Amino acid sequence: MTTGASRQRMSMAGAGLDRNLDLPLYQQVATHLRNQILDGRLRAGTRLLGSRQLAAELGCSRAIVLTAFDLLYSEGYLQSVPRGGVEVAAVARPSGSMVPAMDAGAADEWLSQRWRAVLKTQYDFDLSSPFSPGAPDVSLFPFDVWSRLLRQVWANPPKAASSNMSPLGWQPLREATAEYLGAVRGLLCRAEEVAVTTASSGALDLCCRMLLDPGDEVWVEEPGFIEARWSLKAAGAKLVPVPVDDKGLCVAEGIRRAPKAKLAVVTPSHQFPLGVTMGLERRQELLEWMNGHGGWIIEDDYNSEFRHRDSMTASLKSLDRSGRVIYLGTFSKVMLPSLRIGYLVASPRFVEAFGRGRARIDVHTAGTAQLALVEFLRQGHLLRYLRRMRATYAERREAVLAALRQLLPDELEIPPDPAGLHLTALFKPSLAERVSDRDVSQRSRAVNNFVQPLSQCYLGVPDRQGLLIGYGQLKAEEALPRLSSVAAIIQDAQHLAH
Ligand SMILES: Cc1ncc(COP(=O)(O)O)c(C=O)c1O
Repeated sequence: MTTGASRQRMSMAGAGLDRNLDLPLYQQVATHLRNQILDGRLRAGTRLLGSRQLAAELGCSRAIVLTAFDLLYSEGYLQSVPRGGVEVAAVARPSGSMVPAMDAGAADEWLSQRWRAVLKTQYDFDLSSPFSPGAPDVSLFPFDVWSRLLRQVWANPPKAASSNMSPLGWQPLREATAEYLGAVRGLLCRAEEVAVTTASSGALDLCCRMLLDPGDEVWVEEPGFIEARWSLKAAGAKLVPVPVDDKGLCVAEGIRRAPKAKLAVVTPSHQFPLGVTMGLERRQELLEWMNGHGGWIIEDDYNSEFRHRDSMTASLKSLDRSGRVIYLGTFSKVMLPSLRIGYLVASPRFVEAFGRGRARIDVHTAGTAQLALVEFLRQGHLLRYLRRMRATYAERREAVLAALRQLLPDELEIPPDPAGLHLTALFKPSLAERVSDRDVSQRSRAVNNFVQPLSQCYLGVPDRQGLLIGYGQLKAEEALPRLSSVAAIIQDAQHLAH
């Protein structure tokens, strides 16, 4: 290619025009030249090829090249040369190009320390695995009903739903959620105590920023829900792991480790990941500790809908008289994870402050589904679907239990846990001494049956080894063959360790 004073070669390599793209051809030529100018490959003063020659190289018409030149003239990237021709103009390149480009391998120093702390956590998961612990079976969801409701409500939407909604959510949804919680969870609350949130993770994240200052101590369950720790870290909290035994959170140990912690984040009905239900005595101890020093409790009541009513324990929230328990729930599991709608239940004073702040942060949860969800609840679709899914998950759970008893009768111990979408199989001491759950987990990925290791749910040194076996997406008839391949990995690892 010809050059002017700089005698630089103008490369059209990589400018392959794609006639299937929506972007017009002249825009594709202009984009290629503009990028070369901006990243310094075409310097100021470089004389461009003539339009005819360039068109021949690119395999397009001359008119396309001329239109691209016109565009770049008007943007100031090109200028004409007095005795004919076109050259690159002196353009200010973005100052960002002076610092190293941010490629995937670059270190993370440019991130805030808190964000780095969030990213640093190792978390091995595979949502497509049949054993994914929190994944419901969305293939059974009544999409026909849901799409009809979406169409109906949006055919003639209330005016207030088309612009910004209340940061606390669509008022009819707050009312319908309060009713739903009374029916399904036995939690009696009023609409003014309910806020609609971006699933329970969104609620937790905002609550952390509302309540915590950097450096504040927070009790987290050990082992516990890794994802909850991310929001806490992002808020600058100092995490204090508090052990969980067969009665739930060891409150006395928490008091010993951090007596004045500002907050405790707990899953009392169905501890994640062990599945233990916190006994009444521990619940009272926890509430007393909170009241004694003006702390807060976030009760994550995930998946309690999948417990049969007769085995349901009252929520911590329903025992709270001081208004310092914040109850979180979600429609992610009982409906669709992608819905991203959840709720919090707290004192009207807390809810009001939550709304005032939220109006200044992300304003409100997307409105589209909120309206349809009201009808889904009011018309009883969710209760019907839930009844069906409880039976489905109970059957899948039984199939997993039967398979594990048959395959690994002496190696595993499975704590009673009649709820949710997963169970945790603990390694008995004789197995835990010889085989690591992380090793089994890694090898299970290779056979497309990934199971999460229990030890990754620990903040400190794990005192137990085990596997989190989700069954939400697992067909009952698949339990035995799939678990056979996991059992073979365990047996193989045991032999190697001998
Ligand atoms: C312990 C726990 N809490 C809460 C959630 C729900 O999160 P979200 O409502 O953000 O989907 C999950 C989902 O896996 C969970 O395992």
